Amino acid sequence: MSTSEVVGSAGLRAHWHAVANVDSLVGSPVGVRLLGDDYVLWRGPDGNVVAAPDSCPHRQSPLSAGTIESGCLRCPYHGWLFGAEGVCQEVPSAAAGVPVPPRAHLETVYAAEKYGLVWICPGEPAAPIPEVGEEDDSDFRRINTEVQVWKVAAPRMVDNFLDIAHFPFVHVGTFGGAQDPRVSPVELEELEGGFFGYRYEIVAENPDEARATSGSREPVVERAMSSGFRLPLMVRSTIEYRSGLRHVLLLASTPMDAESSYFTFVVWRNDDFDVPAEEVIAFDRAIGEEDRVMLERLDGEMPLDRTVLVSVQADKASVEWRRRFAELVRG
Ligand code: FES
Ligand SMILES: [Fe+2]
Repeated sequence: MSTSEVVGSAGLRAHWHAVANVDSLVGSPVGVRLLGDDYVLWRGPDGNVVAAPDSCPHRQSPLSAGTIESGCLRCPYHGWLFGAEGVCQEVPSAAAGVPVPPRAHLETVYAAEKYGLVWICPGEPAAPIPEVGEEDDSDFRRINTEVQVWKVAAPRMVDNFLDIAHFPFVHVGTFGGAQDPRVSPVELEELEGGFFGYRYEIVAENPDEARATSGSREPVVERAMSSGFRLPLMVRSTIEYRSGLRHVLLLASTPMDAESSYFTFVVWRNDDFDVPAEEVIAFDRAIGEEDRVMLERLDGEMPLDRTVLVSVQADKASVEWRRRFAELVRG
């Protein structure tokens, strides 16, 4: 498949993509990249996030290099000022009473905040941002981490997040060393929240660094898990320990362009909220780092044609995701 197929896909533009942490929208405008295009984000005077192409309609200055004044974005080049919904409110060079040119307003794209993240959709949204039930469950707390840039095509990340056969190899430095490399037959099913995937059980190593996450001091822990996808590129993974502790992960892979992606994860868990959030997710971050190192070794785009890559039974969830993803991309 060619580079332009994923990046230029109208199907992908019609979905929400996580591009930043909500916390990053303080002080200065934020520049992000999605599907090969640059956008500027800021929190407007009405409190809503504004997202627009990162190019001033006047002389194409990057607006992300500008400044914020009472919720309005000032272009750094000639000082045009943009307010709520990207409306141009001021052209400093114009004499008093001269109206702002109609095409001076920014052509905003859909922007939303959910789960501590900023999401944007460059087209007409075909589906809402996936619901994670734990968000509204007071037994659970949510923990966010930073949005990272990974030098890998986003589809390769989704493929990895649906795959458990890499655990005893890639994750031998964290939890994977105790796992039987043989994968039980994968039975695909509808999972909670409209995700589609499979359930499985693993035995995970539980080193000192993992204890804040697992809530256990045993050397190994049994985990009942599930991993599932929602188109285009969202993966939800759940981990349940014998103690009843549930650890839910939303893994967001966002194509900046054909070969670079944003990665972040959101955790919900029903612990006693005593362990500091940073300690709880330190182990998840170490696991993510192992995936990043592996994935950044893979060059170029992930072939979407079924026949190009050799797949086995353990790849069943990813193969099904790839089939549906290719359909969405190709329209
Ligand atoms: S380029 Fe933005 S005001 Fe001139
Ligand atoms: Fe992994």
